[in-house]
Amino acid sequence: MNAVEIEEAVSALAEQPFDPEAFPYAFLEAFGNKATTLKRLRTGGTNKSDLGGVLQTNNIHLATCPVGAVTTTLAALKASPATTRAKAKFVLATDGIDLEAEDLLSGETIACAYPDFPDHFGFFLPLAGITTVKQIRESAFDIKATGRLNRLYVELLKDNPDWGAADRRADMNHFLARLIFCFFAEDTDIFPVRGLFTKTIDQMSARDAADTHAIIGELFRAMNLPYGQRAAAKVPRWAEAFPYVNGGLFAEGTAVPRFSKIARTYLLHIGNLDWQKINPDIFGSMIQAVAEDEERGALGMHYTSVPNILKVLNPLFLDDLRAKLEEAGDNPRKLLNLRHRIARIRVFDPACGSGNFLVIAYKELRAIEAEINRRRGETGRASDIPLTNFRGIEIRDFPAEIARLALIIAEYQCDVLYRGQKEALAEFLPLQKMNWITCGNALRLDWLKLCPPTGTVVKRYADDLFSTPLDQTEIDFENEGGETYICGNPPYIWSNDQSLEQKTDIENVFSRYLKNWKSLNYVSCWFVRAAEYANNTMCKSAFVSINTICQGTSVGTLWPVIFGLGREIIFAHTSFKWRNLASNNAGVTVVIVGLGDCCFSKKVIFSEDEKGGATAKSATFINAYLIDGPNILVSKSNKPISGLAEMKFGNKPVDGGNLLLTRDELGDIGMSFESQKKLVKRIIGAAELVNGAERYCLWIDDRDLELADNYRGIRERIARVKMARLSSRDKGANEMAVRPHQFREMNIGIRSTICVPAVSSEGREYLPIQFVSNNTVISNRCYGIYDSELFHFSILVSRIHLVWIATVCGRLELRFSYTSSLGWNTFPIPLLTEKNKADLTRCAEDILLTREAHFPATIADLYDPDTMPADLRAAHDRNDEVLERIYIGRRFKNDTERLEKLFEMFTQMTQAKAGPAKPPQRLDMH
Ligand SMILES: C[S@@+](CC[C@H](N)C(=O)[O-])C[C@H]1O[C@@H](n2cnc3c(N)ncnc32)[C@H](O)[C@@H]1O
Repeated sequence: MNAVEIEEAVSALAEQPFDPEAFPYAFLEAFGNKATTLKRLRTGGTNKSDLGGVLQTNNIHLATCPVGAVTTTLAALKASPATTRAKAKFVLATDGIDLEAEDLLSGETIACAYPDFPDHFGFFLPLAGITTVKQIRESAFDIKATGRLNRLYVELLKDNPDWGAADRRADMNHFLARLIFCFFAEDTDIFPVRGLFTKTIDQMSARDAADTHAIIGELFRAMNLPYGQRAAAKVPRWAEAFPYVNGGLFAEGTAVPRFSKIARTYLLHIGNLDWQKINPDIFGSMIQAVAEDEERGALGMHYTSVPNILKVLNPLFLDDLRAKLEEAGDNPRKLLNLRHRIARIRVFDPACGSGNFLVIAYKELRAIEAEINRRRGETGRASDIPLTNFRGIEIRDFPAEIARLALIIAEYQCDVLYRGQKEALAEFLPLQKMNWITCGNALRLDWLKLCPPTGTVVKRYADDLFSTPLDQTEIDFENEGGETYICGNPPYIWSNDQSLEQKTDIENVFSRYLKNWKSLNYVSCWFVRAAEYANNTMCKSAFVSINTICQGTSVGTLWPVIFGLGREIIFAHTSFKWRNLASNNAGVTVVIVGLGDCCFSKKVIFSEDEKGGATAKSATFINAYLIDGPNILVSKSNKPISGLAEMKFGNKPVDGGNLLLTRDELGDIGMSFESQKKLVKRIIGAAELVNGAERYCLWIDDRDLELADNYRGIRERIARVKMARLSSRDKGANEMAVRPHQFREMNIGIRSTICVPAVSSEGREYLPIQFVSNNTVISNRCYGIYDSELFHFSILVSRIHLVWIATVCGRLELRFSYTSSLGWNTFPIPLLTEKNKADLTRCAEDILLTREAHFPATIADLYDPDTMPADLRAAHDRNDEVLERIYIGRRFKNDTERLEKLFEMFTQMTQAKAGPAKPPQRLDMH
């Protein structure tokens, strides 16, 4: 369940009559507990309560109580030994009139009237596996409104199927934007009477909803007419109270979809919410999902959260402004200069969605300006910050429209906050016509026209605020100059998932610099466009991006282009997990990369610490792997630079499936035990290694060919391999037809093999390396170190090796992609003494024995990060401790430190030229 679904379930529960018996189970059900879990709780099996309530281990202890006993019951729940034993995170007590609860981890409490507890549903979201941050809890209204609007949208599409067709979708979206504006306006005194819009529809439209669309249409028409024109246009008397809104929001027809009775009821319910509480940065992002068929299920849970947006905006320019504010103290002249500077800052998001980066930037700048005004004794002064300085490009029309609305709402809310309701109202209507969010493809529009270099003037008029022709690239407002900051979270799309149009975009961006751009992620284009833009006007930029652009082969492709355009990385946030409102947060790992001039000296690397906060470290040069180190590129090596054992490719069958056998197929051949010992081996590829599945293969030495020939099952298989190889279009396969009883490679350890899967899930804390005996062959989905000392295993399963692999080899979608030439051969290892080797061997044995002790658990079972056995984790920890002491005499503090050490060693070991980035130059690699 996502947050919207939970909110809906909780609200539905609060609306029902209170049933003390059923409440605890209904409450748990609303937070996503399955019927089977609830049944087990009801029958007592898993209910650990010692107070007659319901206690779910690791979750909540809740109880209903007689009227008036809520506070004492809550205290008893908290004090109960069972609560501690079961590690409950929450306690909750209610008598159906009041409800009290406590988060036992944070100590935070809530106390409210029972019908109001849905307003606090965000408090309980951890019960549904959603890690709440403060900001999410404060989004209760936005989540509720999104859920309600979603229901209305679906209902309206049901009643008006033609509005769902591609050619009417824009009308539907526009209609929704108008509704949102009206709901906001009627609750914030923009309309002269509180609730005017909803009340008018309620009173004027028939209960059977037959004329709801007509009534709304009349209201929209009124809002598009200046007062002087209304009589002639025969605006009905009941619509006259509505102000003239303009700005294009109500222009272009007043078509309204038809309403069923249900849709009308939904509309009235939505109108009765308190829209004053709308938070334009969050709400905009969430509501855009309503209009997207594919996204509707997720209900906008994937937007960039405010803390993540601030990770971009703070180091990009806000921290500096705040420092200047501090520096200015109460000096009126300095404060005035800073205010002038802020008023000329342009923020440009070229993939702006519904404008959340722009809204946050706007609000933060207004906060700084308000503080300046306060210190200068000018509280309540009109803002100098024009909304038109917050510009965006968005390819989809609805989010673009919502972005404009979100900015207008943000401006109004800031005016109310810093100037007062009266002043805010006086200047709000009619809306201005200027348009600063362009709907179009950012990779095909000229950013210099949308955000021209300082001092130039933009030429063409926009039609109006809310309806942009797709080809509009020029905007009407004077460009006063000043600083420009580009920011955002552009789309991450792997080459396999790119549409033809997106592939063409990448080609257009990269083909003048590179030949091998095809494997690049779509997001890379935004970095190049920002770097090109900065070549023409002063600007810094920072984007959130999938972290793979700073890993593996992307590094060698993308970053020379950006460095060649004269940009350097001025700050970076190393990999962190994406967190937002979705209950399934497993998704992507991202980085933030800030670009600026080569000569920018104050470089900073931020890394997430164990508590989820960030540590900042200044850097001399930030390379493309986001390491404070020389500008190097780790490229493939034929041999291990460490001088340790060689890692070889596994064995490729090239057999049309005929050399490989399941256990049953092996049985069908009917071999004697002795023959089987000679002709058959177990084979493992990446999947078998992790899941422990059994697979066999024919592994026939030339000397045993005669023996193999005795078995018809084998003869036929060999014949089929021959056929497959001969009929292949691959020349290499054709040549192998002379020895059809064998794999392409015939690599096997005489004693043992350390087996490394070529691809493995990034979810594990350690690479899933296996150690197999000489009965087992490894497939071409793995690499092997054959017959080597066990300490190699200790190095391969270490944390420091995994960190190197993740950075240097990169990932294939969400999986590590290992190659011996890029992963093992480049891995810097200090010179090992015999004692070091003996210590590491003991650690390796310890890990293998601990795995054995959990037989028959598979690698997948053992290395599931949620259930990894404590003894195995301890064995790995000891291994890491021993190895890391060999590197630096102590444990590394974090992965950033590990990587810095490795890059330093790599540079020394390969004598790569260390030094700053190349001077600005245009690359032409053709
Ligand atoms: C990851 S979202 C970020 C949006 C918003 N900042 C947020 O956090 O929700 C990326 C946005 O880029 C838009 N987009 C995708 N391709 C685009 C293109 N070629 N030009 C402009 N916008 C694009 C998408 O529609 C989407 O709204």
